[in-house]
Amino acid sequence: MSHRSISKMEYVHVGVIGVGRMGARHARNLAGLIPGARLVGLADPDREAREQLQKELDVPLGFDDFRELVHRDDVDAVVIASPTEIREEVVRECVAAKKPMFSEKPVAADLEATRRIAALVAQSGVTYQLGFMRRFDPGYAHAWEQIRAGAIGRPTLIRLTSRDAAGPPLEFVRASGGLFVDSSVHDFDLARWLMGDEVETVYALGGCFVYPEYGAAGDIDAGVVALRFCRGGLGLHDNSRHTGYGYDIRTEVLGTEGSIQVGYLQSRPVVLLRDGRGSHDCVKDFLERFRDAYVAEMLHFIDCLRHGKQPSVGVEDGQRAMEISLAAVASLQSGQPRAVESLREPTPSDGRGAV
Ligand SMILES: NC(=O)c1ccc[n+]([C@@H]2O[C@H](COP(=O)([O-])OP(=O)(O)OC[C@H]3O[C@@H](n4cnc5c(N)ncnc54)[C@H](O)[C@@H]3O)[C@@H](O)[C@H]2O)c1
Repeated sequence: MSHRSISKMEYVHVGVIGVGRMGARHARNLAGLIPGARLVGLADPDREAREQLQKELDVPLGFDDFRELVHRDDVDAVVIASPTEIREEVVRECVAAKKPMFSEKPVAADLEATRRIAALVAQSGVTYQLGFMRRFDPGYAHAWEQIRAGAIGRPTLIRLTSRDAAGPPLEFVRASGGLFVDSSVHDFDLARWLMGDEVETVYALGGCFVYPEYGAAGDIDAGVVALRFCRGGLGLHDNSRHTGYGYDIRTEVLGTEGSIQVGYLQSRPVVLLRDGRGSHDCVKDFLERFRDAYVAEMLHFIDCLRHGKQPSVGVEDGQRAMEISLAAVASLQSGQPRAVESLREPTPSDGRGAV
């Protein structure tokens, strides 16, 4: 818990670490769309970007070094949106300062760091929410409720497609942990959450088709992963860094009595018909597609802090999804199916000992 009681406070005073693509989005949401929050500080060594955002959002505090922000008495909670490679340092500092955290995904870039963070968070009792925002998307949240209510019978098969319009810069790719860690981790979380089951085995294939420089850096730009769940269910995931048409996130869960499909290609519900052809626009990127989800996940975080509740998605979900990601990486490298269990250790909440 925080060094001062957040529950019953009128406002939670929040600092954001990292003001890049995600940090700026969270900062803008906190500044205007989250009633119980007050955005009070930003930390980013990119002074120009930080000061510009401070000015735009009228944020009083700004720091090059995130440690200064984290240890301020007038900062109650922290949003972590700095690069994945420094995640552990940042989380350690937040735990030392007993500051509740909303952390962007993934928990960390590798499994060892993920386990250390999970153990640290569990031992400290500091509130932690992970940025698996797809769970807060109205479509995915509704699908989950329908599945839980038995609308498709027993879920038997899940298909998950994730495609970016265009790949991120090489320097982001280098620090990201790779396609299956950085991007597919969202799909692996959806797979567990929507199927209500853990993944037992994965078999992954991948290649570099558009960005040879990713290959030179040891990554892929497209991959597929077959999944088998512990209760026997099946899954198929495909991911690509480049579509050439837009951002494309779709999921289908097939059950014994029906199917549920989530996702859409069009940004606006408008089709132009002309000269024997039809055309429509496409969703541009994750910031557009998951606009509502980023607001909803932050509302949830602030609500949990104000009312003393535990966030619905935490570090253990991040650890489980990461185990699947890394089993996929191991399968890709070996060319063989890989048991997720071989990477799995009991999480603190299993009651079987700390990791
Ligand atoms: N949930 C999602 O949909 C989603 C989407 C994209 C990225 N992410 C995650 O968000 C995180 C950030 O990704 P991004 O795309 O915003 O990256 P980005 O490169 O756009 O931004 C990162 C920012 O962190 C800053 N930074 C670097 N070192 C720092 C330090 N020591 N202290 C404070 N700030 C520092 C950089 O200057 C930059 O402004 C990553 O972990 C990524 O996996 C999540």
